[in-house]
Amino acid sequence: MNRSVLKLSAGRSHDIIVGARLENLGRALSHVVSGRRALVVSASPIARRYARTVLKGLRSAGFETALGLMPDGESHKTMAVVQRLYRHALSAQLDRRSILIALGGGVVGDVAGFVAATYMRGIPFVQCPTTLLAMVDASVGGKTGVDLPEGKNLVGAFWQPKLVWMDMFTLSTLPDRQWRTGIAEIIKYGMMADRALFELLENNDLARLKKSPKFLETLVARSAAIKARVVSKDERETTGLRATLNLGHTFAHAIETVSGYKTYTHGEAVAIGLCAAARLGVCVGTFPLSGVPRVDALVTRWGLSTRVKRALSRPKILAAMARDKKSVNGGFRFVVPVGIGRAKVVAHVPPDIVVRILKEIGL
Ligand SMILES: NC(=O)c1ccc[n+]([C@@H]2O[C@H](COP(=O)([O-])OP(=O)(O)OC[C@H]3O[C@@H](n4cnc5c(N)ncnc54)[C@H](O)[C@@H]3O)[C@@H](O)[C@H]2O)c1
Ligand SMILES: [Zn+2]
Repeated sequence: MNRSVLKLSAGRSHDIIVGARLENLGRALSHVVSGRRALVVSASPIARRYARTVLKGLRSAGFETALGLMPDGESHKTMAVVQRLYRHALSAQLDRRSILIALGGGVVGDVAGFVAATYMRGIPFVQCPTTLLAMVDASVGGKTGVDLPEGKNLVGAFWQPKLVWMDMFTLSTLPDRQWRTGIAEIIKYGMMADRALFELLENNDLARLKKSPKFLETLVARSAAIKARVVSKDERETTGLRATLNLGHTFAHAIETVSGYKTYTHGEAVAIGLCAAARLGVCVGTFPLSGVPRVDALVTRWGLSTRVKRALSRPKILAAMARDKKSVNGGFRFVVPVGIGRAKVVAHVPPDIVVRILKEIGL
């Protein structure tokens, strides 16, 4: 088990426990919150497997419990679902000292977190992530929210959990595609902040990772620690430091948007975006040419693609990138790798360079 502390301003902080067990969450929570009512929010495929264990642990620690189910998947990350969960919270008689537990992937975490941020002007909550992506990314950092028909994550709140509780055994049921999606973010952390992590990935693969709980715990703990460190220094994305977590993401978001979120998972698009960011780093002089085949090889090694499967409309990709919140007038703004293990934001990247990069990733 690995425990780290995410320290925030005004004396706020919380633990991140990697390698915890679901059955022990109730006991741990009884030391963290004063109330004794708990609502577990989850989606059926996850609840079916794991909710009973969490609920049982909560009850034996003295909590009165309820389960609030939401439909599964990104298309249900909506205000309508949030409203339904408010009613679950009311009928479970949750008050401001009660606790809400998000048990699931990033979708459940974002929605349940937003419910916690807004129900009765905010109640305590716990992130209990069950996908690799949610463990290394979505559950840490306090961003909660929902999508609108016009775009992803357009409504939300910063609301920090009281605890992040990761049980690696939940990943035993995760489909390979979801594993790879999380791996893409871990590759990102290696590239932007941790050369040794990058090298660890270069010497391993998915089959070995799934057989080695210790190795898995190491990868998750190091990744979550990088995110926690960045968030603790720039919680609300005001200094530009938190923006470096978006390495590869301007390309990735454009690929996801233009392909209608159907062809690629987020991580699959991020992997392609990392290959693009490496090439862009070469163009702007922050990344060695020899690093490009290294990044491509790592992405391939973990079963991810370095290029898009089929071309998408380049004007649409460029328009999506220009709309991305990371762009500014008169050129594009990107995060680029600075060697392996560091990243920075560069502004005013000329459109012809961007087009050159797009061609290299098949766009
Ligand atoms: N708040 C943040 O900082 C942040 C960061 C990154 C991503 N996100 C958000 O996270 C979401 C993506 O998260 P995700 O990739 O976890 O997707 P997800 O929550 O949709 O989960 C993917 C699928 O895996 C299933 N699943 C979950 N746990 C499982 C398990 N243990 N075994 C078997 N199946 C399981 C889910 O039911 C779902 O069908 C997006 O909405 C994204 O915007 C938020
Ligand atoms: Zn991401």
